[in-house]
Amino acid sequence: MRGANTGLPAVVVCLWLVNSGVLARMEGTLAASEKLVYQSQSLCAGEQDYVQRRKQVVLDSLSSLEMNCTADSVPHIALLASGGGQRAAVALVGSLHQMHHEGLLDTLLYFGGVSGSTWSMASLYSDPQWSRNMEAAESRLSGPGVKLEEALGWLGERSKEEHFSLTDVWGVLTSAGIMKQMDIRHLSDEASRNATNPYPIYCAIEKHCYTNGPIEGKWFEVSPHEAGFTEMGLFVETSYLGSKFQNGELLEKKPEMDMVKLQGVLGCALAHEEVVRDFIPPWLNVPEYVDSATQEYLRTYNTLDKIIALTKSTVDEPAPWSALDELQKTLGDKVNHNESALLESKTLEERKGVFQQWSQELLAAVETWTQSLEEGAFKTHVSLLTKQILPLVMRWEWGTTPNFLYQYQDSPVPTCLRTKESFHLVDAGLLINVAYPSFLGDKRDIDLIIAPEYSAGNMFETLTLARDYAAEVQKPFPEIGETVLQDRDWPKDCYVFEGKGKEPTIVYMPLFNRQNCKDAEEFKAKMEEFSTFQPPFNQEKIKFLLETAKANMKNNKETLLREINKAAVRRQSKRSLLCPVSDSCL
Ligand SMILES: *[C@@H]1O[C@H](CO)[C@@H](O)[C@H](O)[C@H]1NC(C)=O
Ligand SMILES: *[C@@H]1O[C@H](CO)[C@@H](O)[C@H](O)[C@H]1NC(C)=O
Ligand SMILES: *[C@@H]1O[C@H](CO)[C@@H](O)[C@H](O)[C@H]1NC(C)=O
Repeated sequence: MRGANTGLPAVVVCLWLVNSGVLARMEGTLAASEKLVYQSQSLCAGEQDYVQRRKQVVLDSLSSLEMNCTADSVPHIALLASGGGQRAAVALVGSLHQMHHEGLLDTLLYFGGVSGSTWSMASLYSDPQWSRNMEAAESRLSGPGVKLEEALGWLGERSKEEHFSLTDVWGVLTSAGIMKQMDIRHLSDEASRNATNPYPIYCAIEKHCYTNGPIEGKWFEVSPHEAGFTEMGLFVETSYLGSKFQNGELLEKKPEMDMVKLQGVLGCALAHEEVVRDFIPPWLNVPEYVDSATQEYLRTYNTLDKIIALTKSTVDEPAPWSALDELQKTLGDKVNHNESALLESKTLEERKGVFQQWSQELLAAVETWTQSLEEGAFKTHVSLLTKQILPLVMRWEWGTTPNFLYQYQDSPVPTCLRTKESFHLVDAGLLINVAYPSFLGDKRDIDLIIAPEYSAGNMFETLTLARDYAAEVQKPFPEIGETVLQDRDWPKDCYVFEGKGKEPTIVYMPLFNRQNCKDAEEFKAKMEEFSTFQPPFNQEKIKFLLETAKANMKNNKETLLREINKAAVRRQSKRSLLCPVSDSCL
């Protein structure tokens, strides 16, 4: 009875809506304006407009390089910077600085990043004129940094939100500790900027689809205008990423994430369990020991270790620094202590219990350490931090974002996305450490990709992974010959993979190479010296990376000019194929 009673007013309201014509008007406006969730395989209006204006900048730049080009045949050139933590973030700034110096920066239409390179992108674009101010961008890397209080203030605000996760912690600590900047603007603010800089595309992957789902649910891109799944072409305006939707209808508008959080979303390779395999201490590296409980223990340790390292780089007084250093050692000693004898005597089930207990002990050690600190500001800050972080480490939740495809019906969406209210955006480097997926195919129709390689691991892997990805989604990609892979352990400083027909040409430029390493031995040593997961680099390392990246660009200027010119010629011939009579496309 009560249900019937409460249902009545709704019916009355509906009747009123229909009678008063409000519904009809609402439908009218919906049909007339764009839907908030939409499917499209072409450029959205905002990007199209930006790119059109950017082409004038590219055209001017090409003519100052004395290349023949006309307004209707500006080549589509993208710089795709690889991930690679701080190594990538710093080296990228060096590469761009040199490109600016050589007059090449303004030939770029697009700028795509994943993981570590997105940290630099976010920092660069905080200056609307960064392409003109590379000196300032470079000096920011060595800047005074951000105080722990400021970082914690940000974290305190975030922790009140529904979808607070480890990504927030990671974002604020990498912003403060590595990029030395707290940038609380929103990416969509850039939508109205002029075309002084190339158009930025930031990439991520959806964690669940990455693990279990079909390929079209994996790659995710965010530009100043739209955010969504590259292969399905399902997007929302960037300012709506994080808002709640059901079947394409807006349920609740939420504030857009700021650049600090976005940095956490894009650059959190730790979020994936597989990464933990790289940190197994030697005594534990026994196949029968490494199961899910062990992994949980190791990831707990690794996350705490990385968080402490980043926190260290936001404090400059010696006493708190040493205290953090001591905590880091305490945890390290626990994990590195050889417990083989103990484990050997246990059954599988008992071992599981042991690892769970050890995980708890790590957290308890952090608690105890916090309590033991001298009363004062640092203790207050740290207590707050541990109170927020420890539960998150146990829940192991990253990049939680309301899913705009929840119960979406208008077009096919993989079940794993359609049925979940939230998805989890994480580091795209886990799939491919370069933003290729967003730049393949007809949508952005790229002629030339300049790909400085700052990745760890096997050289050429980003290329072979992208090649295989392209094959799977049936998009053109240049041939990557098998012979070139033999250079893996000591690559040249520059390779050109020439695209035929609709394939883009790729200029691939490894950071460490035959020009700056005398042999494979030295190459390997350099890769280790600048490995991805280490405490933030000191000034000397930052300077070395900047200089190395600059020299690579400088040494290969001629190759780049040649390929840029070819791209212009190619765009011209694509254009004449489309429009044989010169003004038929006006
Ligand atoms: C540009 O075009 C002119 C006339 O078509 C030609 O003479 C010149 O060689 C071209 N320059 C380059 C760099 O291709
Ligand atoms: C772009 O906007 C900036 C201000 O943000 C201004 O200083 C600059 O002159 C503008 N550039 C062009 C090419 O309009
Ligand atoms: C750990 O200890 C066991 C004996 O308890 C020994 O056999 C093993 O070699 C040790 N592992 C390492 C990496 O030291």
